[in-house]
Amino acid sequence: MRMADSVRIGIIGSGGIAGAHVKAYKQMPDVEIVAVADVVAGKAADFIERTGLTGAQAFEDHRRLLELDLDGVSVCTPNVAHHRTSVDALEAGKHVLTEKPMAVTLEQALEMARAGKRAGRILTVGFQPRYDPNMKMVKQIVQSGRLGKIYYVETGGGRRRGMPGGTFIRKDLAGAGALADIGCYSLDMALHSLDYPKPLTVSAYASNYFGTSPTYHREADRFDVEDFGVALVRLEGGIALNFKISWAMHMDTLGATMFLGTDAGLKVTPAGSGPSSGVWDGGVGSVTLYHDLLGMHTETAIPVQRHNVQIFYAKVRDFVEAIKEGRPAPIPGEQIVRNQAVIDGILRSAAAEREVTIEIPEI
Ligand SMILES: NC(=O)c1ccc[n+]([C@@H]2O[C@H](COP(=O)([O-])OP(=O)(O)OC[C@H]3O[C@@H](n4cnc5c(N)ncnc54)[C@H](O)[C@@H]3O)[C@@H](O)[C@H]2O)c1
Repeated sequence: MRMADSVRIGIIGSGGIAGAHVKAYKQMPDVEIVAVADVVAGKAADFIERTGLTGAQAFEDHRRLLELDLDGVSVCTPNVAHHRTSVDALEAGKHVLTEKPMAVTLEQALEMARAGKRAGRILTVGFQPRYDPNMKMVKQIVQSGRLGKIYYVETGGGRRRGMPGGTFIRKDLAGAGALADIGCYSLDMALHSLDYPKPLTVSAYASNYFGTSPTYHREADRFDVEDFGVALVRLEGGIALNFKISWAMHMDTLGATMFLGTDAGLKVTPAGSGPSSGVWDGGVGSVTLYHDLLGMHTETAIPVQRHNVQIFYAKVRDFVEAIKEGRPAPIPGEQIVRNQAVIDGILRSAAAEREVTIEIPEI
């Protein structure tokens, strides 16, 4: 029985991140979690019990879950299954919040976006940093015109010892390594701030010296993705994007994110590395600091863990409200196809050892 005004949700994939989705939904009195599906026998039922989802149904096949009267689903499977489960859900008339990265290949991302368009349903991609006030401020500064014409952006993420295992290190299941897992976030921050210009060409390099070494990874023999990548991406509008990502390296950081414009530059330091984010303009070395927006580097800082929970809640809540209000997708799949196209281009260029063109067919 449908409760009046409630939003009925199903969860597909009941591993680690599904727990964060459920935690967020459970704080919403207007949401009912009706069912959970997981391909591993018994896993959905265990998850329902562990997370106290009394009355929710358990399935092994997501298509059975999609036969229920649901408004939306959270897709929390490994990357490789985002495509099939999202397309099936959209075709069954459900709204979809899929975890990041959008898919494993560009072709899959395109099919997902097309399915959303055909069905007239929300397909939103779960980039929770979009809800971080710091990220909002970065976009606001970039879009304000204060930097003048932006011609160069440098961004990425540099973990020193941060290689996951399991499904994350297999190309057929994850699509890519560090690029797909954490690179998609950095790309989203840069591209979203610039209003997602079309990527045109890319020249990239990728390697996996750490993941394939038993000294650094206990699953070295099955590691077939990259643990480091660097790329120069040409974007429409005459912008060069210098992108760097690593899961493991002998260095503390790959440096700050920066936007260089003809009137000023914006620097964003890596999280936790110190108070020097700001806009540089005018006189030599003059800077206006923005680092303390959230108080993250001050005595009264919100602990990073709590901050992460808050932005995760905000992404899930925005999905629910978009469903209730009949709004378009908050982070549209159609837009994130460009993010997937850059990842696809980086992988092709790195494999071919030369610059490649990025072409994105009509959606
Ligand atoms: N937004 C974030 O902060 C964040 C953090 C971690 C992971 N993720 C993303 O979430 C996704 C899942 O990651 P995880 O760490 O929870 O993985 P996980 O391996 O812990 O869980 C995935 C679950 O999906 C199940 N599954 C696989 N194929 C399925 C299918 N076709 N139908 C139903 N269930 C299926 C698996 O059996 C497993 O239980 C990944 O895409 C990852 O990139 C996002």
